Amino acid sequence: MFEIKAKDNRGRVGVLKTRHGDVKTPNLMPVIHPRKQVIDVAKYGADIVITNAYLIYKDEDLKKEAIEKGLHELINFDGPIMTDSGSFQLSVYGDVEITNKEVIEFQELIKTDIGTSLDVPTAPFVTRKEAEDDLEITLKRAKEAVEYKNKQNMEMLLNSVVQGSTFLDLRQKCGDELTKLGADLYPIGAVVPLMESYHYKELVDVVMNSVSHLPDSVPRHLMGAGHPMIFALAVAMGCDLFDSAAYILYAEDDRLLSTRGTFKLENLKEMPCSCEVCCRYTPDDLRAMPKEKRRDLIAQHNLNVSFAELRLIRQAIYDGSLMELVEERCRAHPKLLEAVRQLGNYKDDLEKYDPRSKKSAFFYTGPESLYRSEVVRHIKKLRKMPKKRDLIVLPPSRKPYSKFIRGKLGDFYIYGSEQEIDLDNTDFMVLDVPFGLVPLDIDEIYPLSQNDSPKIHDVSSIEFIEDFLSEFVEYYEQVLIHSKIIKDLGIGLYNKCLSDLDIVYKKDDVKKLKAIADYQFGIGAGDALFTGNINVEKSKKTGKIRHVYDGKVLIVNMRASDSYLILSKEGAKRLHNKMPYPLNRVIVNKDSEPFALDGKSVFCKFVVDCDYDIRARDEVLIVNEEDKLLAYGKSLLSACEIKEFESGQAIKTRKGMK
Ligand code: GUN
Ligand code: ZN
Repeated sequence: MFEIKAKDNRGRVGVLKTRHGDVKTPNLMPVIHPRKQVIDVAKYGADIVITNAYLIYKDEDLKKEAIEKGLHELINFDGPIMTDSGSFQLSVYGDVEITNKEVIEFQELIKTDIGTSLDVPTAPFVTRKEAEDDLEITLKRAKEAVEYKNKQNMEMLLNSVVQGSTFLDLRQKCGDELTKLGADLYPIGAVVPLMESYHYKELVDVVMNSVSHLPDSVPRHLMGAGHPMIFALAVAMGCDLFDSAAYILYAEDDRLLSTRGTFKLENLKEMPCSCEVCCRYTPDDLRAMPKEKRRDLIAQHNLNVSFAELRLIRQAIYDGSLMELVEERCRAHPKLLEAVRQLGNYKDDLEKYDPRSKKSAFFYTGPESLYRSEVVRHIKKLRKMPKKRDLIVLPPSRKPYSKFIRGKLGDFYIYGSEQEIDLDNTDFMVLDVPFGLVPLDIDEIYPLSQNDSPKIHDVSSIEFIEDFLSEFVEYYEQVLIHSKIIKDLGIGLYNKCLSDLDIVYKKDDVKKLKAIADYQFGIGAGDALFTGNINVEKSKKTGKIRHVYDGKVLIVNMRASDSYLILSKEGAKRLHNKMPYPLNRVIVNKDSEPFALDGKSVFCKFVVDCDYDIRARDEVLIVNEEDKLLAYGKSLLSACEIKEFESGQAIKTRKGMK
């Protein structure tokens, strides 16, 4: 019913299947008023819409027509339709003239594609007692709805809405309880007041604490979110659907939506975008128009902007540049900047979902970039690496750093530590933004070369790095000495000293391969893989390592795009022999053993367990429950997704061991 095609952080491009067709996600469902609708939203790009079943139910004529002709004919839309249940009316008027069961029954009767139970939207910042009491009702009704749907064998898909106000443990609890029900979609409710009052930071807390307690295989809908300014942020947090009446409500009020905020027509001298409306008319033209015509044109612009943003977001997910987009969008408003900083507190959660490497380079856009998965991951890996006695920290130069370092190190280092240098016992690292320290041996791996950031050019940015590097201090005290030297001398002089005083960094292919293997598969993998008569074949064009053999037997290939090692049959065997269970492993059940041996891809439902450090694009070993090596391949998902998903491919097998 929901298939994930591409991922970036918690964001995903997916396909939602309904009986009225498939919908690409992330997507926006324009709100259709069952009686007053004036805009043909399909014409402006809507693939799916939402309307209100309760409003139809309450209106005798609409109700009769909906029952006779069905919802799709009633609102004249032949794609998928979601219906809301009257909960919003409940939250505004305190009461509705329909029961939970009745609204479920009615939605199925009028053939909605996705119906909603009668949840209780609890406002933010209420008392705990109120939130708990409301939540109890919401959960009871969600359960009743799912049970009723199953008993009646209803065809419509069902929403179960997450509530819990701004109590994060209640959001978590609600997520856990709703997950047990197995609903078809999980909207996150009662966030409109947060968005209207610019409480985006609290929105991040509410969404992250809901999403992290919901299943990954089910789409999530951020209810009432319709401003394109927040789409990218919400998608990065794992939201797949948006809905809103904003496009028309803002238009009625002469306000134009944009990813930079909202523009009042009365203040506009220029039209804000390049949609057909903005290209064809000037603000004066619009102001001179009759109210209704103007409203329709602004609504059209509002929809254009919203759908354009969603296209951009989906493309960013395919490219792996979603966080760059989020950081850019969040500069539209200080409260959004606060929100993206708050998202930094959930960096470990986002990292679990982020693919190991991406098509696009990592672009540093500001201090918020330091909390991205790539940085978090690198720091974790660095901490696991064995520490040698000495550390030589070099200032950044061209990337990959190792390629541009030449010469011999002289007295300069002594200036910092007054130690003799034992080169075999020395780590060479580059002091880098945003990755902190980059060991020269692994600096070609994604994203350590595939990134760009402004040059460290002055003392203030050194101070900033120093702050960031406090993470490393317990491991590499010398970093501080180096940054102190940089500060004392000034970056220009530091660079000059290093280039004047020859630096010794011996390039050694096997040493480098071992370091990459240790970084990629865990400490010990390098020694396991690269023993025997190692010879290295390089690209004639780029000089980069391509294939590595023991004698004539291929051990690994190096992937050109990200410099990760791709196992051969021999490589898989060597890794399996030396790396302890369950490292790098995906464990499959008995039934799928012959398929794996045969080189067939592994589906999630056959996976019994796996190494929790596996991420999409990792090279993995496929074993049975006795740890017999069956095959090896490339993971398409993160460990947490492999464990949870019941359908779809987990591993694209390279070869079976048969
Ligand atoms: N529309 C906006 N917020 C909500 C909510 O919390 N619940 C429902 N059912 N609809 C909404
Ligand atoms: Zn426009």
